[in-house]
Amino acid sequence: MFTTQDIAHIREQVRLWKRQGETVAFVPTMGNLHLGHITLVKEAVKRADHVVVSIFVNPMQFGVNEDLDAYPRTLDADKAALIDAGAELLFTPTPAIIYPKGMDKQSFVEVPAISDELCGASRPGHFRGVATIVCKLFNIVQPDIALFGKKDFQQLMVIKTMVDDLSMPIEIVGVETIREASGLAMSSRNGYLSNEQKSAAAVLKQTMDKMASAIQSDGMIEEAISIATQQLAAAGFKPDYLAVRCADTLDPVSTDHQHLVILAAAYMGNTRLIDNLCFNRE
Ligand code: PAF
Repeated sequence: MFTTQDIAHIREQVRLWKRQGETVAFVPTMGNLHLGHITLVKEAVKRADHVVVSIFVNPMQFGVNEDLDAYPRTLDADKAALIDAGAELLFTPTPAIIYPKGMDKQSFVEVPAISDELCGASRPGHFRGVATIVCKLFNIVQPDIALFGKKDFQQLMVIKTMVDDLSMPIEIVGVETIREASGLAMSSRNGYLSNEQKSAAAVLKQTMDKMASAIQSDGMIEEAISIATQQLAAAGFKPDYLAVRCADTLDPVSTDHQHLVILAAAYMGNTRLIDNLCFNRE
């Protein structure tokens, strides 16, 4: 695997591959890779001739009081895992390479409406930061396909919307969430949890499972949300939001919607965890 910070190098390599009629898959990450990321890379290997990965802790998607400085950086271990998984090219830019004029003078990409609710309501500007960096990375790498985890369900929808709205010729693939044996969704932020908090955090997935069953049996969405909120609080969570939406559009649920998604964000101690569960109403 070749590692570079040079945009021209990435472009030249991808151009060479494409000139030979070969396809390129891209997995953007912020590093501190776990099995969830490695699953994305292995899926990318199956779907394209070459796999490019980026590791960039994007300051634009962190709020002022968020964990940008504390965000775990584990480049050597990440590289070893990526080589094993079959990545061929790794892009590890610095903020100065990505935002040479500084973030204040940087053009940005805003995906309206869905960026401002759910996680966007608690993290103003977060999805603008995500859309901007992903757009920029897409322009640098110019992949045929790009893969994202379904764990960040709203992020996946924001990126799909951006690609569609801006007619980007890239197929976006969502990959199933990888979970610990306890059901806890894998996340770099799980590293902030104590062992005790980690066991308690498994209740998030159990609560969503119960919610989905309740909604399937009686259709009472608001009641299911209220019971689940109490269950999360009893397990030591401070719920941020719990919502049920149409899984295809993230629109509020109407009687026509069959394919639904439960979206949850909750604090365990100081760590904000998110998760989701898709299910059919009947
Ligand atoms: O999901 C992430 O790791 C990040 O939000 C992404 C997509 C790499 C953009 O920085």
